[in-house]
Amino acid sequence: MILIKDLSKIYRQGNFSLKALDGVSLEVANGEIFGVLGPSGAGKSTLIRCVNLLERPTSGSIFLDQQEITGLNAAELRKTRQRIGMIFQHFNLLSSRTVADNVAFPLEIVGVEKNKREARVKELLDLVGLSDKARVYPSQLSGGQKQRVGIARALANDPEVLLSDEATSALDPQNTSAILELLYDLNQRLGLTILLITHEMNVVRQICKRVAILEDGRIVEEGLVEDLAAQPETRLARAIFAPGELPEITPGATVATITFVGETAKQPVLASLVRRFDVNVNIIGGSIQKIGRHRVGQLQVELTGAQVKESITYLVNLPDLSVEVHQWIG
Ligand SMILES: Nc1ncnc2c1ncn2[C@@H]1O[C@H](COP(=O)(O)OP(=O)(O)OP(=O)(O)O)[C@@H](O)[C@H]1O
Ligand SMILES: [Mg+2]
Repeated sequence: MILIKDLSKIYRQGNFSLKALDGVSLEVANGEIFGVLGPSGAGKSTLIRCVNLLERPTSGSIFLDQQEITGLNAAELRKTRQRIGMIFQHFNLLSSRTVADNVAFPLEIVGVEKNKREARVKELLDLVGLSDKARVYPSQLSGGQKQRVGIARALANDPEVLLSDEATSALDPQNTSAILELLYDLNQRLGLTILLITHEMNVVRQICKRVAILEDGRIVEEGLVEDLAAQPETRLARAIFAPGELPEITPGATVATITFVGETAKQPVLASLVRRFDVNVNIIGGSIQKIGRHRVGQLQVELTGAQVKESITYLVNLPDLSVEVHQWIG
């Protein structure tokens, strides 16, 4: 649905120039929720603004559903922009307009007649769960409600793609979760393709199918979120899982983090380990996280005994499971 090819953006001011994007290539499939993670200044907003051509790329090309949009003239571009909705960190609502009139705004711009406009606004407010707030002004809404208005407005012209630039960064955890659920729901029900920019790992964990890390204007890593649990050595996995501090360890023990995905989660892996090898297993930490629609379990264990090496080899060779050894003494 979105194809970005070798995109670069250089900002020039007098003698000074800054390369905000440096050869970025990305592909977002139809109906997918794709996350771009990255630190402040990495170029995330620049990237998303290039996708709807609010910002003109310096070089490279962008395709929307196989149509190159980087070469369009102004009139064609206006039309194409209707196929792309966008939501923002600070909602960008018009404070002098009611909720309904905010949502109606993009419909007015393209000249939808009043009756149709009102019917569509009603539909959109239903969709985001704000039917009872139509006549209210933005200042009377909570942050989560404001973002719902932003989402309804972004969907007014029935776009195929929704761009989200830190749409939950100004919200508390509860509202963040509710907005992410709404985005996921819209993705499922409408088949909406979502390109989402964030610096929050939980956002990626909760709804993204794939994710890329942007650093200094370059994509440094990319992958399927559900695969990352099994690739704990990648930077992406480290960023997403952000493993906690290790608890105090018995001197001489080997500590391993075992990540369970899929079917092995249901098997008594540790029991069979103890039965097969001369090894003691002490559980020192653990968690279960929801990664997208999957559950991924992580256990931190301390291993002691004569056959620690053999038991780790055994674990490493089991399918759907990954082992990371933090301390290898023995
Ligand atoms: N209009 C502009 N003119 C000049 N430089 C700009 C402009 N917009 C962004 N930049 C610079 O480009 C770089 C990337 O900025 P961008 O806003 O894309 O980062 P970001 O990843 O969205 O950061 P944040 O997480 O803080 O929002 C920064 O160094 C920024 O200062
Ligand atoms: Mg930004």
